[in-house]
Amino acid sequence: MPYVVTENCIKCKYMDCVEVCPVDCFYEGANMLVIHPDECIDCGVCEPECPAEAIKPDTEPDLEKWMALNAEYAQLWPNVTVKRDPPADAKEWDGKPGKLEAHFSPEPGQGD
Ligand code: SF4
Ligand code: F3S
Repeated sequence: MPYVVTENCIKCKYMDCVEVCPVDCFYEGANMLVIHPDECIDCGVCEPECPAEAIKPDTEPDLEKWMALNAEYAQLWPNVTVKRDPPADAKEWDGKPGKLEAHFSPEPGQGD
């Protein structure tokens, strides 16, 4: 029952989450992060740390799409444990609808 990164992370990518995860299970794409579902120990510490409220427990409804995306890209993207500055326009993207369709990038981020 892992936690899952969802749509509002895209182009916000605040990265506060990576600093608190006790098992370092965040992986970095070009403009969002994902959680490795087999590594997450379901501690819940990251959820309140995300300014964009993008992290959800997978017990919430309608997260199937995000569970699949987190599982897929956690295998493709590099691990990240050190917070860097968010995008300069992160605030402008916070809460914007349709980010998955318009702005999701499969490209990997830089990682640690
Ligand atoms: Fe890491 Fe805990 Fe968040 Fe899972 S719930 S990603 S183990 S901080
Ligand atoms: Fe994304 Fe929130 Fe972490 S915006 S990078 S899940 S702090």
